[in-house]
Amino acid sequence: MLLLKNADIYGPAPVGRADILAAGGRIVALEPGIRIPDSYVETFDAAGLIAVPGFIDGHVHITGGGGEGGYATRTPELVLSDAIRGGVTTIVGCLGTDGVTRSLAALLAKARGLDAEGISTFMYTGYYAVPVRTLTGSIEQDLLLIDKIVGVGEVALSDHRSTQPTFDEFARLAAEARRGGILSGKAGVVNVHMGDGRRGLSLLRRILDETEIPPTQLLPTHVNRNPTLFQEAIAYAKTGGQVDLTTSTVPAFLEEGEVACGRGLCAMLDAGVDASLITFTSDGQGSIPDFDEQGRLRGLQVGRVTSLFAAVRDAVLQARVPLATALQVVTANPARILKLRGKGELAAGADADIVLLEPETLEINGVIARGRWLMKTREVVAKGTFE
Ligand SMILES: [Fe+2]
Repeated sequence: MLLLKNADIYGPAPVGRADILAAGGRIVALEPGIRIPDSYVETFDAAGLIAVPGFIDGHVHITGGGGEGGYATRTPELVLSDAIRGGVTTIVGCLGTDGVTRSLAALLAKARGLDAEGISTFMYTGYYAVPVRTLTGSIEQDLLLIDKIVGVGEVALSDHRSTQPTFDEFARLAAEARRGGILSGKAGVVNVHMGDGRRGLSLLRRILDETEIPPTQLLPTHVNRNPTLFQEAIAYAKTGGQVDLTTSTVPAFLEEGEVACGRGLCAMLDAGVDASLITFTSDGQGSIPDFDEQGRLRGLQVGRVTSLFAAVRDAVLQARVPLATALQVVTANPARILKLRGKGELAAGADADIVLLEPETLEINGVIARGRWLMKTREVVAKGTFE
């Protein structure tokens, strides 16, 4: 058992000063003045710190991604401490462009490995291509038979690397994800990789206009990658569509017009988008090509899970988005959209996934996952098996 005393709690909505009692990996009480004899519980004085739900990163290439510049550019796997440093206690793993040398079997094994090391993991079936390659033969079966699979993705649209699926192919895929989701009690969300192509979100809008599939079934990602797509995403979200902004970036991309997530969140809220429809994900371990002014490939960088909360911090400290609203996009919103029960909130009955933040700077001071310390007083205290 672990008792956090006197934290300033955002659950993510502001709760005020209270104590959190965790037992068996869950929060069993959240109220002021909890008293338990020290012989039964580890008591930690969190006075002066802000306690928030552990962050959910819904799009991470945990087995590595990339390879788009040849074999030598395949990016490495995520290690546990990458997640810990970013305050990420729940990850949804996915494949990307490469569904040949990266497999769903490896993704499932990696997800299970991270789970055994101490964080919570889920995954998407499929990769960029349509028809999608699955683990058991169909999206529907994968959702029904594999506990960790919560949806399908990242399916690529409006991108030179996509399989150029037709509307009918994409609609059939979304329908199958919906049916599998309903039958398994999961989200069955289609995570859609959006490229820079002119068609933008048109296939998603047609799903909403021409089929019975609701907007909750679709989650387009990378919508901040250029100003045109970003404006289209604002219009899409204003009609009820869910949208995901990618936090991993490099200065060159921002100079070319990519919308930084902190500023992007602020702009979406100013435009009247319902905050509950917006999520951030890191695209962690994906490759980020870095080009010089002449457009020559200077090198490749790797997306970082730590960019997720860095973007939330930017939203609060630079774009002046209220802390509770900014936290929502990496806690309550992804938990609801992906139906991750017990995740994304601090409340009695929820999983004891907690991040402690320093006031003013919002630096991460502590990370607890399922009741266990992973970072304590700024020191990473848990390691992956081979770290
Ligand atoms: Fe992507």
